[in-house]
Amino acid sequence: MRRLTENDVTPKALWLNRRALIAGGAAAAGAATWPAGQAVAATGLEPNTWEEITSYNNFYEFGTDKDDPKRYAGALTTAPWSIAVDGLVARPGIYDLDALRGFPTEERIYRFRCVEAWSMVIPWNGFPLAALLDRVEPLGAARYVAFETLYRPSEMRGQQRAILDWPYREGLRLDEAMHPLTLMATGIYGEDLPNQNGAPIRLVVPWKYGFKSIKSIVRITLTEDEPPTTWNMMAAHEYGFYANVNPEVDHPRWSQATERRIGGGLFARRQPTLMFNGYADEVAGLYRGMDLTAQF
Ligand code: MTE
Repeated sequence: MRRLTENDVTPKALWLNRRALIAGGAAAAGAATWPAGQAVAATGLEPNTWEEITSYNNFYEFGTDKDDPKRYAGALTTAPWSIAVDGLVARPGIYDLDALRGFPTEERIYRFRCVEAWSMVIPWNGFPLAALLDRVEPLGAARYVAFETLYRPSEMRGQQRAILDWPYREGLRLDEAMHPLTLMATGIYGEDLPNQNGAPIRLVVPWKYGFKSIKSIVRITLTEDEPPTTWNMMAAHEYGFYANVNPEVDHPRWSQATERRIGGGLFARRQPTLMFNGYADEVAGLYRGMDLTAQF
């Protein structure tokens, strides 16, 4: 049953205001570990509504239409849930979700930019992936982090067909994974993550195209080599491993220079897409010396 929180009785406008204040304070107080991202989020980014965030989704495990996840993800059992952590770590193991919930959660209002050129602003709740990685102690040889979504065709009807090479897989370089903006999300608007958004726990990497933000994670593997990733395996010339948001590098079949903000209305102007989705100050340093047009 759904937990009641004070959000149930706080009008959204008030709630947002209060959150913006909290976020602003956090940015000022924690500058070392918590850079400008939250300050950016707190000034002038109006989050999408709960309805928008939970009814326009990509989650191919439940079908390829935008409303399939909302229609069919209710079939997924999300408790009990655990994440297997293996590969190049000193402390491999099966970590129960309740143990992971022990990490202090934060609120992060992030821009979210899909490779299909639509976008939202989403108030996530979660904890930095770095907290989890620190706990399992990556070994010196570890250079990448691979993630896997649950494979359970009996509950995930999209997996009954070979739409993708299941299970859905994603990966990050270890330094990207350790970056303070990289979040393991467990909630939205202070509520548990709805199934269609990747319950009970998913990745959120706000400077990369949305397909990197893998949902309903059951395995995390530290590796030496770049791991295979679902969309890259499907079409390597269209979806790079890095997938950093870059308005200057078009998708072979469409422009990435602008985006359609969900909720903006049918006739709203498209808005310009920002380099690294607006997080360049925080993350550009990760890619110094790399050719961002070749390493797309
Ligand atoms: N994770 C899994 N397991 N399966 C998916 O189909 N779609 C990705 C990403 N994570 C996807 C996934 C894509 S393309 C996007 S844009 C985001 O999830 C969408 O997240 P949202 O539905 O919460 O907005």
